[in-house]
Amino acid sequence: MAGARLRRRTVLAGAPALLVGCSDGGSDRPAAASSQPSLDELDLTDWEVVRAQFALDPELAHFAAYVLASHPVPVRAAVERWRDAFEADPAAAVAGELEHDDEVRAAAAGYLGVDAAEIALTGSTTMGLGLVYHGLALRPGDHVLTTTHDFYSTHEALRLAAARGGAEVEQVALYDDPATASADEVTGRLAAAIRPATRVVALTWVHSNTGVKLPVRAMADAVAAANAGRADADRAILVLDAVHGLGADAARPRDLGCDVFVSGTHKWLFGPRGTGLVWAAAGAGVVVAPTIPSFTAPSFVNWLTGDDQPSPFGVGNTPGGYQAFEHRWAATEAFAFHQAIGPDRVAARTQELATRLKDGLADVGGVRLVTPRDPGLSAGLVCVEVARGDPSELVRQLRDARIVASLTPYRETYVRFGTSIVTTPDQVDAAVEAVAELTR
Ligand SMILES: Cc1ncc(COP(=O)(O)O)c(C=O)c1O
Repeated sequence: MAGARLRRRTVLAGAPALLVGCSDGGSDRPAAASSQPSLDELDLTDWEVVRAQFALDPELAHFAAYVLASHPVPVRAAVERWRDAFEADPAAAVAGELEHDDEVRAAAAGYLGVDAAEIALTGSTTMGLGLVYHGLALRPGDHVLTTTHDFYSTHEALRLAAARGGAEVEQVALYDDPATASADEVTGRLAAAIRPATRVVALTWVHSNTGVKLPVRAMADAVAAANAGRADADRAILVLDAVHGLGADAARPRDLGCDVFVSGTHKWLFGPRGTGLVWAAAGAGVVVAPTIPSFTAPSFVNWLTGDDQPSPFGVGNTPGGYQAFEHRWAATEAFAFHQAIGPDRVAARTQELATRLKDGLADVGGVRLVTPRDPGLSAGLVCVEVARGDPSELVRQLRDARIVASLTPYRETYVRFGTSIVTTPDQVDAAVEAVAELTR
């Protein structure tokens, strides 16, 4: 044992800093240009100032925050600084890898109100879901419960993971008509579907086909009730695809009560494209084994020394191999940007605009509002069913009218809008008018 520790120290002293986590010799964060105002010099209480941070085409009303983010100035500037550092000296720039990953974890942890060691960094929601579901030791006889409302990324990750482990995946419908869904109905249907053999409950916070925001806290309580009296190994864990809630709703993972929170940071958070995270509560982190080798200590050092030291969930489950670090490390600025505006203000603005849009669309004869009117059951996504004709044609015509919406990528296809910090009340009214005009 003592010999192994000695060998480990020798390796730590001699190996390249980027592999073992030594911060000495690592690259510093490149400093922001002095010409760029700092966040506290901006009046972020003014939504026009917030919107001015984006280089979005001003001729268009951008209702598509749910697709992929445009980067606000601080994020764009950070990406550029890191890119320049890598262009000038890649070996030096990468030398601070672990330190800069930790800076992103710390920023994310501050935003989410969790421990930084519990956060793994990923490239997207889909990557996170794949890592989590493949990291669970699913066995024949295990039951995995998900819903008909989840996105491809959840369904496919579960299908692949269950096929390997021989587990059964069941999809239940939480509501029949999204517009009239209620918290009791949704929670009751979930609770009724949990079996003694259920090991995973896989949910999506805000459904991207209907805009329904699940009452996750109540659903987590239902999972906890089902877990009462179970041995730790038999517990069901609640895994949440949180991508359409993060940056649109201010609730944090512990408020929601989920065990694992998976999200891209490149949609509503307006973080760097190609970034995401997985947070796992201490107990749940233990049951999610890494799939892709981490490039960090202790994993890498274990390989060199033959040791077997466990990694904290966050570093152990952050896939190794070099990354697009100019994007990954600029996520720090995305969290800081949202913190500076205030997550509660962002959520209130998103909600206020979504309510205005729903109120307007509910009166348009040519469409049926699919998203619940209740702000408790919806966030920034607003979906409508087109009464007549081809919904893709409406999306095309809306773009001609300079309104960016999209089609939901599901079997049942709706026209989808997303209100956010880059949209305005006037744009909402223009969208309602355009839909009324085009579906008349
Ligand atoms: C519910 C949901 N989860 C995951 C994704 C995929 O997100 P990412 O691009 O971060 O993998 C989408 C859509 O893009 C989605 O609607």
